[in-house]
Amino acid sequence: MGSGPGSWFWQVVLLQLLLSGLCTDGYRPVVIVHGLFDGPKQFRTLTFLISKVHPGTEVLFINLYDGLFSLRPLWKQVQDFRQEVEPIMKKAPDGIHLLCFSQGGLICRALLSTMADHNVHNFIALSSPLAGQYGDTDYLRWLFPKYMKKTIFHICYSKAGQCFSICNYWNDPHQRDRYLHSNTFLALLNGDAPHAEMKVWRENFLHIKKLVLIGGPDDGVVTPWQSSLFGFYDSSENIVEMRNQEFYRNDTFGLKTLEARGDISVCVHSGVHHTKWHSNQTVFNTCLEKWLT
Ligand SMILES: *[C@@H]1O[C@H](CO)[C@@H](O)[C@H](O)[C@H]1NC(C)=O
Ligand SMILES: *[C@@H]1O[C@H](CO)[C@@H](O)[C@H](O)[C@H]1NC(C)=O
Repeated sequence: MGSGPGSWFWQVVLLQLLLSGLCTDGYRPVVIVHGLFDGPKQFRTLTFLISKVHPGTEVLFINLYDGLFSLRPLWKQVQDFRQEVEPIMKKAPDGIHLLCFSQGGLICRALLSTMADHNVHNFIALSSPLAGQYGDTDYLRWLFPKYMKKTIFHICYSKAGQCFSICNYWNDPHQRDRYLHSNTFLALLNGDAPHAEMKVWRENFLHIKKLVLIGGPDDGVVTPWQSSLFGFYDSSENIVEMRNQEFYRNDTFGLKTLEARGDISVCVHSGVHHTKWHSNQTVFNTCLEKWLT
């Protein structure tokens, strides 16, 4: 029953030991979600970089919808990724980090918005078209011939078109009404088209501790590249940055709250092509390392 200063001292020491154990011993598992047309193979360098700076980190891949299968509709992918990620979360009492590349960033956001009980600590969106895509870059050209940027909305904003992942975040700034009425994924996720679940989705999303946004002007695939930081074109194709977006001002999914909390970190690098983000040492050291503890 010690109540003197001595026992108080030992309680503090014990608490510090416990806390330091939690903070430095185990690193939280890192779960990686890949992008369009790729899969876990592309992330070998990243796995190596993580294990070098944080030895013992468990790095896990959600190995679903690789390669061409990544074109499947995103809500379907979200459903199946969820099945995989739920048991990983259950086994991680201190939570996990979610590192999601390109299209994977949208899958992760949808997971975070629709899972009431997720324990994601830091959510890192690595060059992800978070506000949508409007550009027929080399990467997509074999799929959409060059001249199609202006006309693809006819396909994308139809019921059949929404069965392709890329149409789920195709955001044609000249076809706003069609986007709002026909898009079944991004328009809901961003609250561009208000819906009944918005409040719950926002609460769920806000369970994350940090949102880390990474992108840059030489990406070459995400168009406009500012979409990786929640910026996007207006109807004259001028960039409207995150803070001036309606979804930010209305805080439709929690972005404004996160920033007010001080929990958004933005990391921009030039000279990095889309396919190099996850293997670039500079990007790793400056944008990723500190969020993976
Ligand atoms: C934003 O808020 C305004 C004013 O309440 C509302 O008219 C508008 O529909 C909202 N927009 C979105 C995208 O939530
Ligand atoms: C790696 O990132 C640095 C810093 O942004 C950049 O200058 C360099 O070109 C990148 N290297 C590759 C191979 O992408």
